[in-house]
Amino acid sequence: MDPAALFDSPREVSNSSVSDPASQVGVGGRTYQAYREDTYYLPNDADEQDRLDFQHEMTSVLLDKRLSVAPVQSPRHVLDIATGTGIWALDYAAENPDSEVIGTDLSLIQPDMEETVPNCSFVREDSEDPWTYDHKFDYVHLRYVVTCFKDHRTIMRHAFENLNPGGWIEYVDQSVEPMRHGGTAEGSAWYNYVTSFLSTMASFGRDLQCPRKYKQWLEEIGFVNVQEQLIPIPMSPWPSNPKLKLAGSYQLVKTRTGDLQVAKPIFLRTGMSELEYEELANNVKLEISDRNNQFYILLVVVIGQKPPEEGAPQG
Ligand SMILES: C[S@@+](CC[C@H](N)C(=O)[O-])C[C@H]1O[C@@H](n2cnc3c(N)ncnc32)[C@H](O)[C@@H]1O
Repeated sequence: MDPAALFDSPREVSNSSVSDPASQVGVGGRTYQAYREDTYYLPNDADEQDRLDFQHEMTSVLLDKRLSVAPVQSPRHVLDIATGTGIWALDYAAENPDSEVIGTDLSLIQPDMEETVPNCSFVREDSEDPWTYDHKFDYVHLRYVVTCFKDHRTIMRHAFENLNPGGWIEYVDQSVEPMRHGGTAEGSAWYNYVTSFLSTMASFGRDLQCPRKYKQWLEEIGFVNVQEQLIPIPMSPWPSNPKLKLAGSYQLVKTRTGDLQVAKPIFLRTGMSELEYEELANNVKLEISDRNNQFYILLVVVIGQKPPEEGAPQG
């Protein structure tokens, strides 16, 4: 990918962070949203915003530059739940000028792009609260929300109630399952690190492997045409397939410069010292950088449709 493509988005990738005054400094000196305490455990500061925008680019590689996987056609009303920096919402709105896109988040860290992308707006809200929109949606999009909600099914139910018949919901998320191509990752420092992270997040009520349950949950709630696609996210550029190699390059940089930093305060909450964490993180960095290890996790893409009205055209 041409590095200049990183700057194609209406939201610039670097040096354009937006600080939310309703934030507070917390564990590890990072800044966190203060709108709903103890709801979300990742920061909202400039480093996190760069991590999210970088992750957006990696996802774009894995999805062949498609912003949308669901077969939505000219959706009038689009909702991007937990929009983060708003980079997806802004890109989608720019690409679909006839759509009205709303991005929601606990943090107001989205840039004001009203003049250049007038069909995109942002709202602060906790998506687990009842939704009070004065219209229904044609497309509800959620990306990288695995760490977000107490109960993902609450969001799915809200989406079902707030979609027009025939409208689509789409999840693009990661399931944090430490895997090795052709074998098991068990016994590695990376595997042990991920396992501790999973159990700490589980103690906060967050199951970081639950994207594998999205398909079943959507079907139970009443969505039809539910489809799941699993795509490997290589932890380094070990694959020979050019697309996966590029995604692996992104993932390695993101893990080394972002994910390990974002996870640090979560480990510190368990009583681990900074020194212990740095030692652990350095071992993980060394291991994932070794291409012979062929580690990967999963991108989980799930789409589902609210049943269309009888006799209405599908699409
Ligand atoms: C990992 S980020 C993903 C951001 C964006 N979807 C993306 O793909 O770049 C998760 C976002 O969810 C937001 N969030 C967490 N819990 C939320 C909730 N209950 N309601 C609304 N937003 C929430 C966080 O503030 C954060 O910006």
